[in-house]
Order: sequence, then C-alpha cells, then structure tokens
Amino acid sequence: MTNNLVEAAAARLLWVRSRMPLLAEVRERFEQTQPFAGHRIGMAMHLEPKTAVLLETLRAGGAEIVATGNHGSTQDDVAAYLRAQGMTIFGARSDSEHEYDAHVWSVVESKPDILLDNGAGLVARLVELGQTDHVVGGTEETTSGRYRLRDELAAHIRFPIIVIDENPLTVINENKHAAGQSVVESFMRVTNVMVSGRRFVVAGYGWCGRGVAQYLRALGGKVAIVEVDEIKALEAALDGYRVATMFDLAGWGEVFITATGHPQVLATDFFEIVADGAMLVNCGHFDWEIDVMALRDLAISSTIIDGAIERIDLPGNRHVTLLADGRMINLAGREPRGNSIDSMDLGFMLQALSLERIATAARTLETGAQPVPDSINREAARRMLAAMKADR
Ligand code: NAI
Repeated sequence: MTNNLVEAAAARLLWVRSRMPLLAEVRERFEQTQPFAGHRIGMAMHLEPKTAVLLETLRAGGAEIVATGNHGSTQDDVAAYLRAQGMTIFGARSDSEHEYDAHVWSVVESKPDILLDNGAGLVARLVELGQTDHVVGGTEETTSGRYRLRDELAAHIRFPIIVIDENPLTVINENKHAAGQSVVESFMRVTNVMVSGRRFVVAGYGWCGRGVAQYLRALGGKVAIVEVDEIKALEAALDGYRVATMFDLAGWGEVFITATGHPQVLATDFFEIVADGAMLVNCGHFDWEIDVMALRDLAISSTIIDGAIERIDLPGNRHVTLLADGRMINLAGREPRGNSIDSMDLGFMLQALSLERIATAARTLETGAQPVPDSINREAARRMLAAMKADR
C-alpha cells in the first residue's frame, strides 16, 4: 500500500518538478552552498506536490525537515513519498482536527530552529511553551499570520520572520494571476458552462478582482465591475470594463463573483432583486462575502445538485445558484487544483531564498515580522523573466 502511494506521488512529482525551473535552479545552488547544514526546518503548510518540491529543495540545501500539512488537505501519497525520502512528515488527509493539532505540536516539540509557518501556528505554540531561544527565524506564508505576528505575538518574538504574502511581487503573481486563473478555471470545472458571451459581475477591483476580470474577458465573457474605491473604479473603467453599482447590475449579471475581503457584499437587498437564474460565486478568503445565512432565510426551498452546486428557490418565481456554499470557489469541487504550478514556482522561490537569508544572515535582519527583502523580490522576478524567455 505504502509502496503504491510512493509510486503514485513519484509519478505526479515528475510533472510538477519539471514545471518548476526556478526551484530547480535554487536547488542546484543549494546543493553547492548547503545553507541549511545543521538546521532543522519545521513546517506546517498545505502538503501537496508543489510543496513537496519546495521541501526537496530545502533538503538539498542540507536541512533536516520536520513537517505537517494543513487540516483536511494533506495528500497521502505526497506525505508517503516524502517519508520515503527520509523526511519526518506527520499527518494524513483523514485526520480529525484534534489529530491535526497534535501533529503541529509534534513539529514544535522537535525543536526546529527555522520555521516555515502558515497562520503563525508554529510561532504561537513556541511562544506558549516559552521555548523560542533556539529559534533563528523563519517565514510566514499568509496575511492572517502576519496580523498575529504583529499583534498578539509581537512582544514575544526575538527573531526575524519574513512574511511572503502582501508583497508587491506576490500580489501580482498569486492574487492577480494565480487566483485569477484558478477562480475562472474552477468556475468552469464546477459548472461546465460556457464563459464566452456570458455576463459576469466582479465585486472588488483589487488584485484578485483584476485577475478574475482579466481571465474572464480573455475567454470572451462580458465583465462589469462593482468597486467602492473610486480610484480603482476609475482604473476598471479605463481598463475597458463597465463600472456600476450592484443595484444597477443585479438584473444584468448572470454570474456574480465577490473578491473584496469584506462581509455581506451580496446581501438581502441584492437577493430580493437579482435576476432569475443568477450564479453566486466567492473568491474571497472568508465565506462571508455572500451572506449565505440571509439567502437561506429568504429561500423557499433548496436543492443540492452536487457538492459544489446548490439551487436556491426564492420568492417571485426566481432562483439563484450558489456555488461552493459561498466558500472560495477555487477550493471546491472534485480535485481542486489550487494555484498554477508556475505561480507556486515563483512563490516558493521567494520562500526558499527568504529561508536562506534567515539561515545565513539572520543577525543582519531586524526582529519580528518583516517584508521579503527587495533584493530577493528582484532576483526572483529577473529569474522568472529569464525562465519564461519573456524577451522572445
Ligand atoms: P484587495 O484589497 O487588493 O482588493 C479588494 C478590493 O475590494 C478593494 O479594491 C476594495 O476597495 C474592494 N471592496 C471592498 N468592499 C467592497 C464592496 N462591498 N463592494 C465592492 N468592492 C469592495 O484584496 P485582494 O488581494 O484582491 O483579495 C481579495 C480577497 O481574496 C481577500 O479575502 C483575499 O484573502 C482573497 N484571496 C483569495 C485567493 C484565492 O485563491 N481565492 C488568493 C488571494 C487572496
């Protein structure tokens, strides 16, 4: 059984690794320079093939790896493969929340001196134990982790943590292009409907909204934007989109996609007037952008069509279709793919170079949460331009 899992992951990794030229370059350099020799890197992050290539890269640089995936998303074949490579990997997809929590504690108790954190889970536990003296530093993948590091944990952190999210390069790469593509791809995969000629309303013209709008338009969709910030609304208009209020567009749109990070963007006043048959989709991190509770309060009946599609009948002989229960559409449906391999190649290059900076030059960095050094962003951007052969 374990052998089958290892073989399955090895085959999948062949494809993913071959599409990650930036990490391959970093790996080659790390094999020579061994920046992590003598260090143990502790990781708590989504465990799937792209993450596996990152871990291989760090290990090639001399690191000992102790890791767990996130709750509910660990890919068992990938975990088995990494164990077979000699890494200490905790967890399985079927783990309960309690078991998952125990795995994060196991990573912490192994006393990693470098942390690859997600939501500040490892740092928070180390602080709780009062055992931070051995920590050299680390990286944090998410914005929510950054908030915790700068607020509740700030007074206890005496080592540098480089935050990968909310970085000028990351928002272009991951929010605009990776989320833009994967939200549109997931909408198509979940619904199997045509984009071309269909009327889409995108709420929010920030990084994600820009990407979603761009990829919809590229496929022939007609796109209108709702944006509360007048400067971004003007940008959308100059980019050639129709810009109007949700009230004005409620009868026009066929698909409504929220990408704002704010609650109740689609709420009762909208549900009362939206055109019959509209599809409601969320891209934002929290499942509060579509007020699903208010929608259910208004509903006459509801029919689950499959796990990610629900028909909700409303008064006035109308219905709407709610996708993924208002949660992030790109995590929905069978086999969600997540961000493109290329975008994670760049994202994980930022991780690898930031961890190298921590391992080799932590003393030159200030303590606490801080942005990715500009020199790392610029090196990563130059290398991706070269790998893309963008000059051709
Ligand atoms: P952003 O801050 O760049 O853009 C949000 C935009 O929404 C802003 O321009 C803001 O003015 C606008 N806005 C706020 N309230 C609004 C309202 N009621 N109606 C219309 N516009 C409104 O944020 P970004 O990077 O675009 O992220 C948006 C959300 O997507 C966040 O929750 C973020 O965590 C999430 N996200 C999701 C990803 C995915 O894969 N699905 C990937 C990355 C981020």
